[in-house]
Amino acid sequence: MCGIVGYLGTKPAAPVLLQGLKRLEYRGYDSAGIALLHRGALYAVKQKGKVGELERKIEEIEKGGATKRVGCAAAESRIGIGHTRWATHGAPSPQNAHPHLFGKFAIVHNGIIENFAALKESCLLRGEKFSSETDSEVIAHLLAQNDCGDLLQTLQKTAALLEGSFAIAVISLNAPDAIAVCRNKSPLIVGRGKEGLYAASDIPALASSADEIFPLSDGEFALLQGETIKFFDKTGEIDKKPLALSLRADLPNLCGFSHYMRKEMSEIPAAIASSLQKIEVDFRFSHFCEVLCQTEYLQIVACGTAYHSGIAAKYAVEALARIPVEVRVASEYRYCDPIVKKNTLAIAVSQSGETADTLAAAQLAKEKGAYLLAVTNAPYSSLTEIADFHLETGAGREIGVAATKSFNAQLAALYFLALSLAKAKGKAADFSALQTLPALSEEVLSDIEKIKQFAPVFAAAKSVYFIGRGADYCAALEGSLKLKEISYLPSEGYPAGELKHGTLALVEKGTPVVAIITQKKFAEKTMNAVCEVYARGGRVLLITSLAEYAARKEVEQSFLIPRCEELFSPILSVIPLQALAYYTALERGNDPDKPRNLAKSVTVE
Ligand code: G6P
Repeated sequence: MCGIVGYLGTKPAAPVLLQGLKRLEYRGYDSAGIALLHRGALYAVKQKGKVGELERKIEEIEKGGATKRVGCAAAESRIGIGHTRWATHGAPSPQNAHPHLFGKFAIVHNGIIENFAALKESCLLRGEKFSSETDSEVIAHLLAQNDCGDLLQTLQKTAALLEGSFAIAVISLNAPDAIAVCRNKSPLIVGRGKEGLYAASDIPALASSADEIFPLSDGEFALLQGETIKFFDKTGEIDKKPLALSLRADLPNLCGFSHYMRKEMSEIPAAIASSLQKIEVDFRFSHFCEVLCQTEYLQIVACGTAYHSGIAAKYAVEALARIPVEVRVASEYRYCDPIVKKNTLAIAVSQSGETADTLAAAQLAKEKGAYLLAVTNAPYSSLTEIADFHLETGAGREIGVAATKSFNAQLAALYFLALSLAKAKGKAADFSALQTLPALSEEVLSDIEKIKQFAPVFAAAKSVYFIGRGADYCAALEGSLKLKEISYLPSEGYPAGELKHGTLALVEKGTPVVAIITQKKFAEKTMNAVCEVYARGGRVLLITSLAEYAARKEVEQSFLIPRCEELFSPILSVIPLQALAYYTALERGNDPDKPRNLAKSVTVE
C-alpha cells in the first residue's frame, strides 16, 4: 500500500512529483522514488525512507550540474512518475523502491499483484533479470513483453494478466509525451490543471495544482497525452465528468505545534461540532430516516481506530434503540460468509474511505442485501462510491498516522445515529446531550498537559494494560492501540471484568495499568479490577469523571474529565489516552506522526 503520482506539463516534473508524494506520505514512507523521461532516456532516483530524504538526494544530484545526465533530467524533465512506499513484498530498501524500470518502461504501483510469483517465474525462464524482491517489478517486465508500440494498448494487455489490486502509472520511451494509468481495487484519480495533467492515489496530492479531478473506477484506464486525457473501459473510450468538489489547497500547517498529532488533538472540539452540524443537515434533507425506521439489525464493519468507534456505537445503539448490533473487524467479516438478515443496516466506518478490507466487507454486506451507510471523513472515496448513503464527518484533514480527532468525529456521528435510531423506534432520544460535547472536550484539553508527568513511568514500562467496562472498555481499546502505534510498547485493552481470567498473570510490581471509570453503574465493578492490580504491585492511573474514585488508595495517579451522558463518555475519556500515547512516544524518542511500519490508509489486504 503506497502512494503514486504522475505529471506531464509545462513545469519541471521533479518538484511537482515531490510535492504530490509529500501529500501522499500518509500512505507509507518506507522509501520514495521518481522516474523521469528526458531526451529519449528514462532516469530513476530512489531513496530509502521519507520523501524529504529523496528530495535531498535529488538536490544533491542537481548540484552535480548538467554534466550528469540524471541531474539534467531532474532539473529539466517535464514528465515523470513517483511513488512513496509501504513495504509489502520485499524489505524497505533502495532496490525495492519504485519506480521499477525495465526495457523502455518505468512503472509505479499501489496494491498487491497476487499472481506475481507465477508471472515472475515465466519472466525468469525467459532469462530476464529482476533487481528487486517486489511483486510490482513484474509489471515492468510484462509491459516490455507485451510492447506493441502503443502505450495504452500495451498497458491494457498487461493489466489483463494481473490478479490482485493495482493502481499503476506507466511512462515509456515509446510515448515521450504520455502517461498511461489503470485501476483495479486501488484508488486512482487523474486531474487537469493550467500547467499540466496529473495522476495520483488521492485528492490532496493534486489539491493545489489541478482544477478538475476525475476518479477512475475499477477496470478503467486513462491516457494522459499532450494536453488531453482520454478514458477507457472494456467497451472502449468513455466520457467522464469531473468531481463536483471545490478543491482547496489545504496545505498542511503545524500552526506552532511540534507535531500534527498534538495539533489534531487540539482540533477535537471543532471536529465534534462540525460533524454534528453536517450530520444534522444530512439527516434533515434525506430519505435516510425512513431507512432507520425499517432497520432491525445493525452490522458495523471497520478496521483499527474506526473499529473501536464501531464498538462505542454498539454500546450506544443497543442501550438507546434496543437494536442488536454486530461489530466486525472488516478483514474477518469479508471471508466469514456473514449472515445478513432482512432489514439490516450495514455501516462501514472509515476515516479515509479507502481501506481495502473495509471496502470489501461493505461491498459484501451490500451484495447480501444490507442497506449500506458509509461514515467517512472524506467527501469522496471508493467507499462513498458504493454506499447507499454517506455521512461525512467534519474532522478536516488528518495528517498524523495515529487517528485522533477523526475518532472523536466518528463517535459524534455514530452517537447522533444512535439517537436517531432510538427516535425512529419511538424511544427516548435526548439530542441535547450531544451539543455539550464540543465544550466539554475543550475543558479536557485545557488540562491535558498534566498527562505529560505520567509519560516517564509509561515510557520505561515493559508492557501496559488498559481496562474499562461498557463504553469505558471501548476507550480502553483505543487508548491501548494509540500507545502501541506510536510508543511501540506492548499493550492490551481489556474488559475490566475479564482481567482476572488471564491477563492479570502479566501484572507484576510496577506494571502500569490505566483504568477508565465514567459510568456510575460499573464504577465499583471496575474498582474491583483496580484493587486486584494494586494487590499485585501494579501502578494504576485512573481516568475518571467520578472524582470520589480518584481519592482511593489503590489509585496512584488520576486525571479528571468532566461528566457527560455516560454512554457517550469515550469521546472525552479517549483524549487523555491520546495524550498519554503522544507524550510516551516523545519520551521514547519516537516520531508520533510517522510511526514505524504503519500507514494512515491501508489500501491492500
Ligand atoms: C490504518 C491506520 C489506522 C486506521 C485504520 C483504518 O491501520 O493506521 O489509524 O484506524 O487504518 O483506517 P480508515 O481510514 O479505514 O479509518
